[in-house]
Amino acid sequence: LVTYFSSQDGVLCAEGVPLPVIAEAVGTPVHVYSAAALRDAAHRFRSALAILPSVRVAFAVKANPNGAVLHLLAGCGFGADIVSGGEMRRALDAGIAASDIVFSGVGKTDRELADALAAGIGQFNLELEEEGQVLASLARARGRRATAVLRVNPNVDGRTHAKISTGRRGNKFGVAIADVPAMYDRLSRLEGLDLVGVALHIGSQLRDLAPLEEAYDRIGYLVADLRARGHVISRVDLGGGLGIPYRADDVVPTLDAYAAMVGRVTRDWDVELTFEPGRVVAGLAGVLMTRVIWVKPGADHPFVIVDAAMNDLARPALYDAFHRFEAVAPDGERMVANIAGPVCESGDVFAVARDIDRVRRGDLAVLHATGAYGAAMASTYNCRALSPQVLVDGDRFEIVADRYLPEEFAA
Ligand code: LLP
Repeated sequence: LVTYFSSQDGVLCAEGVPLPVIAEAVGTPVHVYSAAALRDAAHRFRSALAILPSVRVAFAVKANPNGAVLHLLAGCGFGADIVSGGEMRRALDAGIAASDIVFSGVGKTDRELADALAAGIGQFNLELEEEGQVLASLARARGRRATAVLRVNPNVDGRTHAKISTGRRGNKFGVAIADVPAMYDRLSRLEGLDLVGVALHIGSQLRDLAPLEEAYDRIGYLVADLRARGHVISRVDLGGGLGIPYRADDVVPTLDAYAAMVGRVTRDWDVELTFEPGRVVAGLAGVLMTRVIWVKPGADHPFVIVDAAMNDLARPALYDAFHRFEAVAPDGERMVANIAGPVCESGDVFAVARDIDRVRRGDLAVLHATGAYGAAMASTYNCRALSPQVLVDGDRFEIVADRYLPEEFAA
């Protein structure tokens, strides 16, 4: 595993920039991204999939909507997968062509649909029949046709955290696979709609290819069925979901294994495949740098109270997620501690009873692998600021999002 965050002369760096330099210039907490890591992940994703005949890659903007990050990924040939008007704005502003944007999401408002039509968004991923009807009539009113696919719920358990599993019966996403053929017949007759295929996405941080393969298999049968009913199926959107190693010993599928599986399953499909990766592109390309405010004695272990909190990185509080903690300038000693933020909730804890680098008041440290669903999920809870974001490229860095205080939202 190549990492772009490694120690040089005992000090943790982002590429060629020592992290204390960034802390000095920008303050903490701060999200730090590595441009090389983003490019590397983007290129590895694309080149693994190069064994497939026809591929489009749409970065899942929800994972990291930072404009500079999107712009960089656009330069690597990525389109965007969006789920709101706000994400559409970010993607377009970053220079991503409207035709390279896929609009997913279970609750697109009429306003969002109309704006996306006006912008010329390339593909709408429909979640229910009525959405297709509304989209068709909005398109007709403009004398246009909207290109769409129907999102299928394949009823496959992605075997990931329940809160990020999306492909099971009972989840709010997609249309039950048994209902798809008849619905597809009806939707395809609508004036104003070009229904060109199907989509699925069964969950995120998937550590195993088997559920994905099972879901894709079901889609293969569905495509054959739809064709037998006379439909022209030219696109299948296979979603995102590949996991990344958060712990040193996490085992996740390789991109080559994923591509090989997709190649095998989709061999006879004769469609253009769309992928919507988020985490696997951006996750390992970011760290959250924080400063230790106190080391507070605790009942079982001391609490390392850091200046980052659940409003900067919600994943541990929401999903009990693990993010590796590392001191920026470790002294070689270890300690067992709980790591917590200042927010007034007992759930604002990044780690419990963890063996970590010894840190003291004032020390800098990072939480690793926060490039996806880190800043993206930030809030101003407790009237805390949205933390700034910095993009490192070689031995230079740039502030790509300012620290943003709640009172500035009113302005
Ligand atoms: N496409 C669709 C339709 C999605 O719903 C998602 C993620 C993706 C693509 C991208 O999935 P990825 O490749 O990043 O796994 N906040 C959670 C993750 C939520 C993912 C939601 N959907 C977390 O921090 O773990």
